[in-house]
Amino acid sequence: MVTLRSVVRGVGSYLPARVLTNAELSTLVDTSDEWIVQRSGIRERHIAAEGETTSDLGLAAARAALAAAGMDAQDIDLIVLATSTPDRTFPASATTIQDRLGIRHGAAFDLQAVCSGFVFALSTADKFLRSGSHKRALVIGAETFSRILDWTDRTTCVLFGDGAGAVVLEAQEQPDGLAGRGILTTHLRSDGRHTAKLYVDGGPSLTQTVGHLRMEGREVFKHAVGMITDVMNDAYAATGTTSDDLDWFVPHQANKRIIDASAEKLKIAPEKVVITVDRHGNTSAASIPLALDVAVRDGRIREGHLVMLEAMGGGFTWGSALIRW
Ligand code: UT7
Repeated sequence: MVTLRSVVRGVGSYLPARVLTNAELSTLVDTSDEWIVQRSGIRERHIAAEGETTSDLGLAAARAALAAAGMDAQDIDLIVLATSTPDRTFPASATTIQDRLGIRHGAAFDLQAVCSGFVFALSTADKFLRSGSHKRALVIGAETFSRILDWTDRTTCVLFGDGAGAVVLEAQEQPDGLAGRGILTTHLRSDGRHTAKLYVDGGPSLTQTVGHLRMEGREVFKHAVGMITDVMNDAYAATGTTSDDLDWFVPHQANKRIIDASAEKLKIAPEKVVITVDRHGNTSAASIPLALDVAVRDGRIREGHLVMLEAMGGGFTWGSALIRW
C-alpha cells in the first residue's frame, strides 16, 4: 500500500552577520553572562542589519533550501511563511519572497502562530500537499524579533534573536506506515486564555503602532513543559511510537531548561536532542528550521531517521510534528 506524503527534500537557513554576545548585552541592560546562561542557556544571538528585513532573511533561507533540494524556484507552487515580524502589516511577506524568487504561479501566504509558527506552517503545507492540490512547498520560518523588543527591558531583550530557516516539501507516493518517508503526523493546539502572558503591546487595529514584546516569563515557563509533552504524546499515540524510536528531537529553542525538562519527562536521551539556543537565542518561528539545518549539515539527521519537532509560544499555541526524514 502506498500513501501520499510530504517528504522533506531540502533544508536551508540564514543568520544575519551581526552577533550580539551576552557580554555586549550587559553593557546595555543590568544583566550578566552568568544569569543569561544559567536561566536560558543562551550565549549569543544574531541581529539583522539596519534595513535587513524578514523577507530578506526568509529569501536567503529559501534559496539555501532549494539548493539543498537540487530544485529550481519554478518547481515550487506553495509558499507558507511563518512569521510574527512581517516586513509590513500587508501584503504577506511570503508574496515578497515569491516575487523575489521569480515565481508567478501557485500561492504564497503568511501564517502567524508566534514561536509555534513553523510547526503550524509545516502542518498546513502538509495538508495542502496530501490533498493533491499542490506539489512542492517552501515552508519558511523567518523573524526579526530585534525590531519588536524593548531594549530597556532586561527580562525579554536578552532572550530573542533574528534568523530564518526553510524546508522544501514534496508530495510523493510513499509506503504506508512508519517506514515510508515524510511527515507522519502533526498535532496543533491553541488556548487564547493565555494572551496576557506573552503578547505584543501594539498592532494596526489596537494602537496603530508595531508595539513591543511583553512576557511573564515565569508564567510561560510553568505551562511550557506540560503543553510540549502533551502534543508529543499525541504524536506517539497517533503513530504507535515511543521516545525510544526517535533518532532526533528538534525542539523549539526558547530555553535550554525547558528543552531539558521536556526531554527528561519523555525519557529522550540527551544525545538525541538538537540544541542551538546557545548560539541563536529564541528566534521564534525560525528556531526549528535553523536547528534542523545545523543538524542536517553536520551529518546528524540523515535519510530514514525519525525526527520529532515541537514548539510552544504566544497565544498560547503549541504543536508537534513527527517526520521520517
Ligand atoms: O518561545 C516562546 C515561549 N517563551 C518561553 O518559553 C520563555 C519561558 N520563560 C523562560 O524562559 C524563563 O522564565 C526566563 C528565562 C524568561 C526567566 O527565567 P526564570 O528562572 O523564570 O527567572 P524569573 O523570571 O523568575 O526571574 C528571576 C530573577 C528576578 O529577580 P527577583 O525578582 O528574583 O529579585 C528577575 O528580576 O531574575 C531577574 N532577572 C534578571 N536578572 C539578570 C530577570 N531578567 C534578568 C536579566 N538579568 N536579564
